[in-house]
Amino acid sequence: MSTAPVGGAGEAVSIPVAGDPTRAPAVRAMFARIATGYDTANAVMSMGIDRAWRKIAIRELGHAARGDVLDLCAGTMDFSGMLKDRAQSLTALDFCQEMLDKGQYKAPNARIVCADAREMPIPDQSFDGAVAGFGIRNVPEPERAVAETLRVLRPGGVFVVVDFFKPTTLLAKLMAGTYNRVVLPLVGGIVSGDASAYRYLAESMAAWTDRAGFEAMCRKAGFAEAKGWELFPPVASIVIARKAP
Ligand SMILES: C[S@@+](CC[C@H](N)C(=O)[O-])C[C@H]1O[C@@H](n2cnc3c(N)ncnc32)[C@H](O)[C@@H]1O
Repeated sequence: MSTAPVGGAGEAVSIPVAGDPTRAPAVRAMFARIATGYDTANAVMSMGIDRAWRKIAIRELGHAARGDVLDLCAGTMDFSGMLKDRAQSLTALDFCQEMLDKGQYKAPNARIVCADAREMPIPDQSFDGAVAGFGIRNVPEPERAVAETLRVLRPGGVFVVVDFFKPTTLLAKLMAGTYNRVVLPLVGGIVSGDASAYRYLAESMAAWTDRAGFEAMCRKAGFAEAKGWELFPPVASIVIARKAP
């Protein structure tokens, strides 16, 4: 698989190239490396803004938030933590056990599934809603993860995605550019001690589709509708995709 060698503290580290379709094992290893410092780095870099974005995402789940909910690419389970007292049942799925281990305390009632989003070991029509925070863009062949999400949703189910899509407006390009090139590697690197991982995360945003492209991917996979908007500040966006009733 393609990797980009990155020198750090005299040590050559190989990180995946964002966009490489074979990058899954390296992405998993990278998240395992940063799992311990992930929440601290996130808190410092987002200054809590992500919590407001997550609240909007949960609002958009609507009634589904009270049903059976999937937290896809759950990581350290921030969404699960916010859904734990609301959802009838909660499943947190991620292919990095180390990330899940760090977050499990946030939603002790959640069922933990360590698996690839492209091949979920979950029966058809298991969930009323699914939410994915900042995860899908790391999945190689994201269209497979989208198709799998459609499969595990019940008719009328809703899929809410919050992510850093490729910016399209001038303001978003300026903000995302500064954030990705400066804040993310610098602050993420200092807090986690792994600047290469945060450089990869910044690259993964540039290599990812824009929001309209992701909406089209959802419709192509079979979702009846998919529509979103830019959140504030305009670095992240939300997409809501609905399965036909
Ligand atoms: C940036 S973290 C986001 C975590 C969390 N959802 C949040 O909102 O903070 C991305 C997560 O996606 C997971 N991930 C990436 N590719 C995956 C795949 N193919 N299958 C399952 N999980 C994946 C990673 O292990 C990581 O925990």
